[in-house]
Amino acid sequence: MAFDKASVRDAEVKGRRVLVRVDFNVPLTDGEVTDDTRIRAALPTIELLRERGAALVLVSHLGRPKGEPDPALSMAPVAKRLGELLGTEVKLAPGVIEGDVDLTCGALGPGDVLLLENVRFEPGETKNDRKLAENLAQLASVYVNDAFGAAHRAHASTAGVADYLPAYAGLLLEREVTELERVVSSPQRPLAVVLGGAKVSDKVGVIDRFLEVADKVLIGGAMCFGFFKAQGIETGNSLVEGVELAGEALERAKQSDCELVLPTDLVLGREFSAETERKESDGVEVPEGWMGLDIGPRTANAYAEAIGEAGTVLWNGPMGAFELEPFSAGTRQVAQAVAAAPGTTVVGGGDSVAALNRFGLEDQVDWVSTGGGASLELLEGKKLPGVEALLDAGEETADA
Ligand code: 3PG
Repeated sequence: MAFDKASVRDAEVKGRRVLVRVDFNVPLTDGEVTDDTRIRAALPTIELLRERGAALVLVSHLGRPKGEPDPALSMAPVAKRLGELLGTEVKLAPGVIEGDVDLTCGALGPGDVLLLENVRFEPGETKNDRKLAENLAQLASVYVNDAFGAAHRAHASTAGVADYLPAYAGLLLEREVTELERVVSSPQRPLAVVLGGAKVSDKVGVIDRFLEVADKVLIGGAMCFGFFKAQGIETGNSLVEGVELAGEALERAKQSDCELVLPTDLVLGREFSAETERKESDGVEVPEGWMGLDIGPRTANAYAEAIGEAGTVLWNGPMGAFELEPFSAGTRQVAQAVAAAPGTTVVGGGDSVAALNRFGLEDQVDWVSTGGGASLELLEGKKLPGVEALLDAGEETADA
């Protein structure tokens, strides 16, 4: 299905102030941005608007402050990093809407970039408060949403504000939706979906959807223990969650043409630590006193082979505790197989993206999504409020 929302490319922005919702929810250490992927991903939209003579008011959340200012979650480090990437000064507003923010916005000229303070410092943001949405809208005359990573949130800055301004999709948001929807709606076959991570409950919606549309769903990560437990297999001290959901998914898989594949061997440790005693188990029974921390080599080979044979590969979630070197081999092999795969490859979810980065493979994948929860909800088939709120394509001339 083609992307059917109005694009920033079609917005009249010359000489106008544009409020741009971005997802600059990035990791910080000691007041420095440690991974600027999400900031870089928003640059095409920011640069397009600057080239077209707009003044930009950027707005984002950072972390989860409780509706009040928290200096540790100020956007200041983000403004600094964005300024370096753009090669221009990025001003940081003194707040979100209060104080002199409107005056600061009023003083912006074409090409200028202002970043508002963390929008979650405002208690109305996560409640999608009408007044906050209206106040944000008063800062500009056009709204662009490029915050794909936050598009599953119906918040004032991601959805509510679109009721008060002509609202367009940014380039990143459009590309994300297009790439992810293509995996579900018109993939090159066979479609292999590799799902990992800790929790069955986080992924069960995606598993269900792919049991309908994929050819193979390959499960790794701690969530496989929910599936093993549901089959009465001993899981020792492994992290086990979502047993009932996993059992239901196994039942549905029996009715489906899609093959649901579970590991056949594991790497075990005594505890969650790089120093712990480690052993490979030929089979998936985990004895008492041990926990499963990675898929085993036979499973990793089988998954790599399925990835190599696929026309389309979607990977979401690590295969084990890859942050601990002795338990990283399964995730590394899957990452390498995805990077080398001849088919179309799409990777989503913060942890699998972190794994790709760690192994230096991020440039060898066709699309790396900036969205965690947002990409899962889209793949599940849910509507994203941040996308739904935008003008439909063709509507822009009437409303702008
Ligand atoms: C994310 O990191 O997934 C997005 O920025 C959304 O953040 P949230 O889960 O705090 O809404």
